[in-house]
Amino acid sequence: MDTDNENAVNYEIVDGIGVITVNNPPVNALSHAVRGGLQRAVAAAQTDASKALLIVCAGRTFIAGADISEFGKPMQEPFLPQLINEIEASGKLVVAAIHGTALGGGFEVALGCHYRIALETARVGLPEIKLGLFPGAGGTQRVPRLAGVPAAIELMASGSPVSAVRAAELGLVDRVVADDLRACALAYIAELLDAGAELRRASELPVEPVNDEVFEQAAAQFDKRARGQVAPHKMLEAVRAAVELPFVEGLAKERTLFTELLTGSQAKAMRHLFFAEREAARIKGLAPDLQQRTIERVGIIGGGTMGGGIAMSFANAGFDVTLLEINDEALQRGLGIVDRNYAGSVKRGKLSEEEASACRDRIRGTTDYGDLADADLVIEAVFEDPELKKNIFRQLDAVCKQGAILATNTSYQDVNAIAAATNRPADCLGMHFFSPAHIMKLLEVVRGDRTADDVLATVMALGKKIRKVPVMSGVCYGFIGNRMLGPYFREAQLCLIEGATPESVDAAIYDWGMAMGPISVSDLAGLDVGYKARQALPAEQRGDANAYRVPDALVEAGRLGQKSGQGFYRYDPDTRQKTADPEVQAIIEREAAVAGIERRAISAAEIVDRTMFAMINEGLRILDEGIAQRPGDIDVVYVYGYGYPAWRGGPMHYAEEVGLDRVLERILEFGQTLAVDNWSPAPLLEKLVAEGRTIKEWSES
Ligand code: 3HC
Ligand code: NAI
Repeated sequence: MDTDNENAVNYEIVDGIGVITVNNPPVNALSHAVRGGLQRAVAAAQTDASKALLIVCAGRTFIAGADISEFGKPMQEPFLPQLINEIEASGKLVVAAIHGTALGGGFEVALGCHYRIALETARVGLPEIKLGLFPGAGGTQRVPRLAGVPAAIELMASGSPVSAVRAAELGLVDRVVADDLRACALAYIAELLDAGAELRRASELPVEPVNDEVFEQAAAQFDKRARGQVAPHKMLEAVRAAVELPFVEGLAKERTLFTELLTGSQAKAMRHLFFAEREAARIKGLAPDLQQRTIERVGIIGGGTMGGGIAMSFANAGFDVTLLEINDEALQRGLGIVDRNYAGSVKRGKLSEEEASACRDRIRGTTDYGDLADADLVIEAVFEDPELKKNIFRQLDAVCKQGAILATNTSYQDVNAIAAATNRPADCLGMHFFSPAHIMKLLEVVRGDRTADDVLATVMALGKKIRKVPVMSGVCYGFIGNRMLGPYFREAQLCLIEGATPESVDAAIYDWGMAMGPISVSDLAGLDVGYKARQALPAEQRGDANAYRVPDALVEAGRLGQKSGQGFYRYDPDTRQKTADPEVQAIIEREAAVAGIERRAISAAEIVDRTMFAMINEGLRILDEGIAQRPGDIDVVYVYGYGYPAWRGGPMHYAEEVGLDRVLERILEFGQTLAVDNWSPAPLLEKLVAEGRTIKEWSES
């Protein structure tokens, strides 16, 4: 984005109307040049021959917000709230014409105008919460005045944009038109002038009083929905100011709170993720003009936990899906789960009945490989058995048309070996979805040694089309995410056997911000999964035996986790509510005694440092080996796939925030006091600390 683009704002008088056109590709963000240009144009219009003003945008969208790349740097005048006040104070009528997305500061500019007209395809919203902020240019003061306090809180708390039609219902848009926005806007202005319409300034409107409960309920919801985040609570304070204070004072309060957030660590972390997510979509070294393959028909093999969800992700994005199962009974079971999932989506209001049934109709079942002959992409999601997967790839090689892409959803297996079972390894790669696959956003795209560039580019783009966040990983055991999970779980288990309890381990990690503690995650995934995976490995590859003594003992006692009603916890069969189980405590103590471990008190801080730093150490190895392209890619994997708190920015960002020297110091300390073998510092960590460089600097060099 060109922040010094002097042509970012154009002003001309057309048939007596001063037309201000913002032109700052790609998304017309409010860079310094745009703010300056708007200010000059509005000021000029006050004394020229124009009768009224129109603010409109060139390109694909109305202003999509403040320029995020300017955040964290010294802000230059004119500041946005001031500019918007000047627009609103105009002595001549100002109308905003909205197409594309009017977001954040962009929508706040529109709210400073006296009237708003929008294309029916346009969307408006205040997504600042996703950046660890809230609207900081009058949004918290003007939206309650136009739409009422409850709607304002909902809009700002969800961060999701609403359609122009919905915005009109809320009182945030005054007219919606089907097409020809600019002409309609000029006609609308003429109409308003003819009618002698007032200069309707949102700041002068009263705020409908609300019961205090509105704020209390919202705060309680944030504690659940946005646990650990400060921005939603600060937003409520700002809205409260809109209710209790005159506009000018409310605006000042908004600015103070917004600035606090802007300079804080949570907004920094979330800003990092915003750019990391976009960066992750780019593969270094690929030709930019690479011709992608056409994907319309998708085959999925295996309709179990993952296959059904993957099928739904494609069907929801409009693809035709053929789901293949081993026999009719398994097929009906798989399709039954898909039906129940769609019913759930309708119940939760995610899809209407009609939408759900249209998506469901795109999925058809089969047990015949011949039905995959014309698929453009086939994703295998059968049991995690390497020989079975190779067999399936051989069969696909025999039936699929030339040019079809063949993908495996394996969690751990060697993608190169699976690809080598075919005569077309260049067409093969991994597409690692996360459970539940129709909901989780992450897609690890695993590039095999021989995967063709166009196959990789096609699948990265396809990931976006099915509304996932694709991140590329190289081939290794567990790829980026699951490989880092190994040391994380190891330390959680070691804390347990050395003296903690399942509840204290989970509480430490949950309170730190993870969506779920590691012990509960193990129970959810099924303790037999790890057990079987370990059994399949030679003893010397299983790692520290003390890290799996307890789960092995639980599995051998028939405690498989949630699915058997008991694992590390006991689960209520109806509510799935978990409770601590004294039997488990006895097993932990018995196993500790067998291992000769003298149990001791383990603090929450120790649990957090051990699990998080073990994960970071592995992440640095992954980077060094080139398995991940950049540190930000690892952060995106963790936030979108593993319930890592976005406001901590991901494991690599967190490492930089804590300080690499501190991470190394703790790792060395753990090596001295705990099991040395588990704690050898990643060579990259030692190197960066010695050189005084950050991971980011190393990655960009
Ligand atoms: N500032 C700076 N750059 C931005 C930007 C912004 N607000 N919004 C998007 N960009 C950049 C992206 O980084 C990307 O750059 P790249 O091509 O170099 O990677 C490019 O614009 C295109 O963005 P997308 O790839 O995301 O394009 P899409 O078409 O998929 O989406 C969008 C467009 C819906 C506008 C999406 O980019 C988006 O949601 N942007 C963020 C909007 C936002 O959060 N606005 C609020 C900002 S905070 C604010 O306004 C504070 C105020 O209250 C004071
Ligand atoms: P699952 O056991 O729920 O489903 C596997 C399905 O494959 C079963 O329905 C089975 O009938 C079918 N199947 C077996 N052999 C077949 C064959 N020859 N032809 C057609 N269908 C066949 O397993 P799940 O959990 O869905 O896992 C599938 C794959 O996805 C595995 O490789 C797993 O590692 C991976 N994965 C699993 C995740 C999870 O959380 N469950 C997450 C990410 C990846």
